[in-house]
Amino acid sequence: MSDVKCSLVRIPKTEETKTLIPPAMSLETQEIPMNNLEVYRHRLDCELQRAKARLAELPVGEAIEDFDIRGELYGLACEIAPRARQGDLLAMREWMNIRGNERIVDLAAGTGFFTKDFLSQTAGEVIAVDPSQMQLGVLDKVCAGRARLLLGSPDSQQDMSVISDTSVDVVSSFGGLHHVADQRTMLEEVARILKPGGQFTAADVCANTALARHFDEFVAAKCLTGHTAQWLDEAKLRELASGLPLQLERVATVPLTWKFASPTEIALFFKGLHAYDLSEQEIIEDLKAALGFTTENGLICLNWPMVFFRFVRI
Ligand SMILES: C[S@@+](CC[C@H](N)C(=O)[O-])C[C@H]1O[C@@H](n2cnc3c(N)ncnc32)[C@H](O)[C@@H]1O
Repeated sequence: MSDVKCSLVRIPKTEETKTLIPPAMSLETQEIPMNNLEVYRHRLDCELQRAKARLAELPVGEAIEDFDIRGELYGLACEIAPRARQGDLLAMREWMNIRGNERIVDLAAGTGFFTKDFLSQTAGEVIAVDPSQMQLGVLDKVCAGRARLLLGSPDSQQDMSVISDTSVDVVSSFGGLHHVADQRTMLEEVARILKPGGQFTAADVCANTALARHFDEFVAAKCLTGHTAQWLDEAKLRELASGLPLQLERVATVPLTWKFASPTEIALFFKGLHAYDLSEQEIIEDLKAALGFTTENGLICLNWPMVFFRFVRI
């Protein structure tokens, strides 16, 4: 039983697209042998050249922040460092506290890193919303076809209209809300689809932090497709939710770290994640200066603090 239309146009299964699919993510540590990193270095360079060629074909003046162009690089990043973001999953699990039968909507779901984890926690339906067909194509594979796909944007009443009023237990999002152009309309849609007592639990880069500055200064300048963002913080969240039946129940900065086995793994991961046509040394130097590294159990930990928040539908 579902009121969600699948508007995804499936990507043909070619040898090439098969390689985009991140391997099964697990919470166990996996070592990536150096020879694999050499293979990934080559694949990233090929994808960067391909992305540059596609960008060169775009008409002058066309908006270029395009997750379809970056989608393949993003998929490679997930393959290169599958354990890097395990702390993100654990933090979201703690904040969401899923009981097992919830119907969950994942906004800006991307390639399904969280969607797949939600599917492991609930017997209810999981709906992934994202405007990038390429990202949803990867997500569909990562989630073995078990998530419902909604190609669209959470600030579009038309796109979201396929989800009924008060039909959802949990709305979630990680790392994508800053892309949403009309964040007030997005919150109105969240309030509309949530059941009374339902939760909207999400995390994103917090406004006026070193991480937001890193995106605004370095990523915006060096990512092949640029980067624009409207960062959130507690004051902005309260302002956006003003007059809506959403109560901000919990908000906090969580000092997440992303964990890597080697500087090479870090550089290649970010080459894919942020579509950098840069030397590995430039990538590492920027991250070190902007965000800082620590070490833990032989792993290199990159500081990646995020603001987490939970609204409850009243
Ligand atoms: C940094 S990724 C986060 C993906 C995923 N949540 C994760 O943690 O791996 C950001 C995602 O936001 C999506 N996005 C871009 N513009 C958007 C918009 N206006 N509304 C919703 N999502 C958007 C992109 O397609 C991309 O998949």
